[in-house]
Amino acid sequence: MFRKSKTRQKIIMNHLLTIADLSEQTNLEESRIRFYESEYIAEFPKKILHGDIYFFHKQAVNLLKEIHNRHCKNDLKKPKKNIKKKFARVIAVTSGKGGVGKTNLALNLAIEFQRLGKMTIVMDADLGMANIHLLSGIQPLYSIKDIVDTEHSISDVIVEGPEGIGIIPGCSGVVALADSTKYERKQMLNALESVEASADIIIVDTGAGMNANVRDFLRTADEIIFVITPDITSLADAYGLLKAICNEGLDKPVYSVINMVHTLRQSADTAQRFSGSTKHFLNCEVTNIGYLLKDQTVTAATSHRKPYTVFDPNARVSKNTQNIALTLLKQEDPKIKFSSAFSRYIKMLK
Ligand SMILES: Nc1ncnc2c1ncn2[C@@H]1O[C@H](COP(=O)(O)OP(=O)(O)O)[C@@H](O)[C@H]1O
Ligand SMILES: [Mg+2]
Repeated sequence: MFRKSKTRQKIIMNHLLTIADLSEQTNLEESRIRFYESEYIAEFPKKILHGDIYFFHKQAVNLLKEIHNRHCKNDLKKPKKNIKKKFARVIAVTSGKGGVGKTNLALNLAIEFQRLGKMTIVMDADLGMANIHLLSGIQPLYSIKDIVDTEHSISDVIVEGPEGIGIIPGCSGVVALADSTKYERKQMLNALESVEASADIIIVDTGAGMNANVRDFLRTADEIIFVITPDITSLADAYGLLKAICNEGLDKPVYSVINMVHTLRQSADTAQRFSGSTKHFLNCEVTNIGYLLKDQTVTAATSHRKPYTVFDPNARVSKNTQNIALTLLKQEDPKIKFSSAFSRYIKMLK
């Protein structure tokens, strides 16, 4: 009896493929397969969860090839009416107070976007605590300041991170731009523009608080995510920061992500309290795009110097992050992509 069921299990397992097998047999990158999963959700091959791993039936190979062919044909058929240069969506991740989970969200959101087929770069622009490299286990040789100081190119500065994301370490150097010469600004502008032209999404981890550096990055970005925890001081400080940028004129989507929640109810209450007061007192609409449960996986991943979505892609907090990425992709605004955010930033400094 025992032997029979083991044999049967073996036969079944022989017919199952991991995403890596599927990638090998279809010649499609894993990130492309995940992109098709989000785009063609209804007809995407069924997955079977066994232990901690998802498997696919062998038929998935042909199904996926069929989806890929159709996708490529549709792409060719689309009229290429916009020959203007496309720029990345620049999304700033910010907060009123520190320690609320910005850096973790910025890095892991970048990984989820990349898995969904979007070329993503994360910029570490936290002046006080530049630590994306620590969370992702990379050792950067240069920071963005080296473009001006030692004439390195942007490709020397960008480091490849987990899942193929790009990481620009130590962007706090950009602050020095305010005091730099016209020639230096031009160098930096060219570098940042080329990054914007080559990526789909750039996520900026701005650091916390009310200082001018954070506000400049918020003015630059196309969209802003406020990370808030249910803690009352986090709400109050986020409100203070939003008020300051509203006073300077705010013309872009603002989102909230509620972090370290224990229940869905707690997340909904916190989001409602924030958007209720910003709407009432600042006349500013804040859209909640998701939440992250308080999950020990985050600290465990940090001690392994891995992003939590890589350390445990099936953890609840990883699934929460994936949902935020999917929600943001649905909110894409095509207008944004034809002007360079960093170009606007450098002009603003003049
Ligand atoms: N969802 C979460 N569950 C548990 N711990 C978290 C979560 N998000 C962040 N943390 C922890 O909170 C601390 C601050 O996170 P970090 O991303 O560095 O915040 P910030 O960049 O806002 O200062 C870290 O110790 C991190 O491990
Ligand atoms: Mg941080």
